[in-house]
Amino acid sequence: MSDSARRSNILTHALQQGLLHEEHAPLVAFLDWERVALNVEHLLAAFPKDIPVLHAFAVKANPLVPVLSRLGELGMGAEVASDGELTAALEAGITPERLVFDSPAKSWGELRRALGLGAALNVDNFQELARVRTILEESGSESEIGVRLNPQVGAGAIAAMSTASAHSKFGVPLRDPGMREQLVEAYLASPWLRRAHTHVGSQGCPLPLIAEGVNELVRFADEVNSRAGYAQIRTLDIGGGLPVDFETDNPISAFDDYVAALAEGAPRLFAGDYEIVTEFGRSILAKHGFIAAYVEYTKEVGGRRVAITHAGAQVATRTVFMPDAWPLRVEGFDRAGAAKPAHATAVQDVAGPCCFAGDLVARGRELPVLEQGDLVALLDTGAYYASNPFHYNSLPVPPVYGIENAGTAPRFSEIRGAVVRELQPAL
Ligand SMILES: Cc1ncc(COP(=O)(O)O)c(C=O)c1O
Repeated sequence: MSDSARRSNILTHALQQGLLHEEHAPLVAFLDWERVALNVEHLLAAFPKDIPVLHAFAVKANPLVPVLSRLGELGMGAEVASDGELTAALEAGITPERLVFDSPAKSWGELRRALGLGAALNVDNFQELARVRTILEESGSESEIGVRLNPQVGAGAIAAMSTASAHSKFGVPLRDPGMREQLVEAYLASPWLRRAHTHVGSQGCPLPLIAEGVNELVRFADEVNSRAGYAQIRTLDIGGGLPVDFETDNPISAFDDYVAALAEGAPRLFAGDYEIVTEFGRSILAKHGFIAAYVEYTKEVGGRRVAITHAGAQVATRTVFMPDAWPLRVEGFDRAGAAKPAHATAVQDVAGPCCFAGDLVARGRELPVLEQGDLVALLDTGAYYASNPFHYNSLPVPPVYGIENAGTAPRFSEIRGAVVRELQPAL
């Protein structure tokens, strides 16, 4: 069965069960559990067996508690970047020793909570380091603590997602004058700094660039350990950012290629001197979810067809506002869930329901002719779509269903119910 046929099977059963309904549920998201498990299995197998590795899922990619608990059952931990994400991960049963707290703006309260729990923490800057020292002096902590380095190896294809550029807001800029020495001395003066962290960027960063950043991390840790005269830094947190293939149906992310690129570009990482933490998000889930929406109306404008659907900026925020950086594949299905015939196509815009003209998820795209009552599927939306809602027009946040047996007789379970409208408090 092709993946398109698999999606058609999911839609057909969701329609029969009333989960997708023209009037009551015109916009729904799905996550294919079997594919998630297969991909995570592949991740776990890709890294060397003789080195302890914690794969901490980047919760920003999908903060829904049932998703986090399923990933925990599959053997992952969690990387959190706010109090809210920390709460979600704990609710999902991920224990503090499998958590990592990152964020460039940790408040005193967030620092105290993470250090009180004993969760690992990556300090972003020298001011934060001073706060952490104060808390440790006041109350101690079991947490393993590190500092985030910006190796300043350069940006990838998407500037907004590149965190190792010369002026990035993240981490300590290692190549700025005097910074490397200042940081080495901070480590030597703080024997409780037992980790180091970098994250080169998210999507758009080629593997050799990621490996170059990780290599800088290893070189820094080697220098600290050699000057300390013992293995002070024990753990290297190499971040996430493995780019996802948004063009094909391959469900397996390129974890093998990623490990091969690190073996070549940062060979000391796998020498056995360090434990490893990863923080993948998009590459874990993106390919295994899709959003389905009804076509409410169609029209012809200036000689081009437009399908007005229920999926726009409120669910595909990045795609709508940065269409070149985040293009999505769109598929068409009829009202029974069957794929629209591929021979009858037209150049069309696929629009969302939001009240601004740029609310388009596809522009001038050759697609099967979409009609009123058809369905569109926005593919590869398992990561960062559920976590990026946009509340414009008070549109409802769609329900998300997990699917077992997607290829045969799909069974659906609710991951998130529809959130109808956030009431604005009366003045
Ligand atoms: C510190 C950190 N780790 C991990 C990630 C996850 O990146 P990705 O979802 O591309 O794997 C991000 C993404 O922004 C991040 O900022």
